[in-house]
Amino acid sequence: MISVDLSRPGVIEFVPIGDASIGFLTVAALQRDIPYEVRRVFWTYGTPPDVTRGGHAHYRTNTVLVAVSGKIVVSTELVGGASEEFVLDTPCRGLYLPPLCWRTMKYTASAVQIAFESTDYSAEDYIRSLDDFRGMRNPSG
Ligand code: TYD
Repeated sequence: MISVDLSRPGVIEFVPIGDASIGFLTVAALQRDIPYEVRRVFWTYGTPPDVTRGGHAHYRTNTVLVAVSGKIVVSTELVGGASEEFVLDTPCRGLYLPPLCWRTMKYTASAVQIAFESTDYSAEDYIRSLDDFRGMRNPSG
């Protein structure tokens, strides 16, 4: 069973099945690998390396990101200012992002990101102004 601090970004290590002679398979199983019920999956691809995606936080949505191909650098900021940078460069690594976590992503050419989301899509769940985000009160203090 997975143990992730749901209040902050955190790396999830997936266990690959297979070996180099036959190739690999990686599973994301509810509760064992993903700490919430997944309602929506999307993937992003064809992102030019000079583009920064993301640039938002969510009020309610939990996310796990995986770079299934290529490399993705994810920068995060929590309400209160704690910021971190994560490098996703193997399909065996996921990054958990809690609600109220600002994120930006940079991709290498041909990188493919898959995202496992806890909510249905809703434009109202997005915080797209960094000023508004930084003006929010820390929920734990
Ligand atoms: P966005 O979440 O801003 O992408 P990223 O974080 O990768 O930069 O979404 C980009 C656009 O796609 C935006 O217009 C909303 C739309 N979209 C949907 O319609 N449904 C979805 O499930 C998602 C994730 C995005």
